[in-house]
Amino acid sequence: MNFEFHNPTHIIFGAGTLSKLGKVASAYGKKALLVTGGGSVKRSGVFDRAVSSLKGAGVSVIECSGVEPNPRIISVKRGAQIARADGCDVVIALGGGSTMDASKVIAAAALYDGDPWDMIGHGQENWAVPTRALPIITVPTLAATGSEMNSGAVISNDDAKVKSFVMADCLFSKVALVDPELTLTVPKDQTAYGVCDIITHVTEGYFNGIDGTPIQDRFAEGVILTAMDWGPKAVADGNDLEARTQVQWASVVALNGWVQVGTDYGFPVHMIEHALSAHHDITHGAGLAVVNPAWMRFAAKARPERFAQFARRIFGLSAANKDDLSLAMEGIDRFEEFLRSIGCPTRLSELGICDGLFARYAEDAVLVVHDENGNLPGRPPMSKADIVGVLR
Ligand code: NZQ
Ligand code: ZN
Repeated sequence: MNFEFHNPTHIIFGAGTLSKLGKVASAYGKKALLVTGGGSVKRSGVFDRAVSSLKGAGVSVIECSGVEPNPRIISVKRGAQIARADGCDVVIALGGGSTMDASKVIAAAALYDGDPWDMIGHGQENWAVPTRALPIITVPTLAATGSEMNSGAVISNDDAKVKSFVMADCLFSKVALVDPELTLTVPKDQTAYGVCDIITHVTEGYFNGIDGTPIQDRFAEGVILTAMDWGPKAVADGNDLEARTQVQWASVVALNGWVQVGTDYGFPVHMIEHALSAHHDITHGAGLAVVNPAWMRFAAKARPERFAQFARRIFGLSAANKDDLSLAMEGIDRFEEFLRSIGCPTRLSELGICDGLFARYAEDAVLVVHDENGNLPGRPPMSKADIVGVLR
């Protein structure tokens, strides 16, 4: 196990921390581009509170609203144009993962003369991974992606029907202001999909990483157990601030790099889900709820002992009279039941997806990330036929 780890994002966590936004932002400039989604922050009053905190600290606000779920590159272009035209010196993302991801790429695109789509990996020869960006402040309103404290962004292109990602050091936010109170208005379904996303961020590392990472295993199990404990409470009662707080912290921890560090993991479930989202505009966490258990049943055959460990440590199942694979499959069934119990779909038909384009999804899943044989990296690596098999 060899690795380097660096995460420069300053995190300010806790109920009520939104009031610090103005002071925090004033350290990075006098004019902020405030990026939001389709209107939830306006309906909840969070937008007005953010603006008043900024103005109170002498930071003027230029608005860029309307970032869509599964954010599109056209929204990024629009945001970058506004940031340039108005001479913004800091970008503030106030919203879910979609708003945060768009904001990160807006911050980079504002300093880039070419087409912002060059910065998103889509199989191009020269991937213009950004090296500089305006300072970014992330204020998540939904617990799911962990985008607030990582260097990734996922952007879609409707013309190409591609949804893909970029990771770059300059996309780490300077400050992540994480206030669980802002998530109290997230509806039940999005709350549940967020819980699935959180869990899947750590199962990717847990099942696809190298052997011999006992600390990371325990970190991952801690995140899964915490999300499974508190997630259903947040779904049952959206106003349960304690549950919202624990789920929000789990979402930060799940994908800020710390849990997976050194495991050299692949992200096959995510790559497959992104292909589905690109064509069907589904919610990321809902797509994962369908793909992850199906992928697990495929991968367990190659690494039954690992999945048996998951069954024992997460669900307390015992190995008496069972081989590892039987125990593994029982654990996966229990995981799928958990997802259903909080209201996630677990079949493509529930998302209105049939098998017409399965081969295309498989092509798309390996478009950016693939090994020397053209397979999707993971344990085991997946051929396109394997991907179609999992989808089926
Ligand atoms: O757009 P608004 O009106 O804000 O409504 C959103 C949207 O409809 C709503 N919402 C957000 N906060 C709310 C709220 N509604 C009520 N109250 C609130 N406080 O929820 C809906 C979904 O929002 P979205 O931002 O799309 O959800 P999420 O946070 O799950 O982000 C998903 C996007 O992030 C990408 C996904 O692929 C997807 O594009 N990911 C980003 C990652 C990263 N940067 O590290 C990693 C992830 O694996 C993921 O791929
Ligand atoms: Zn995810």
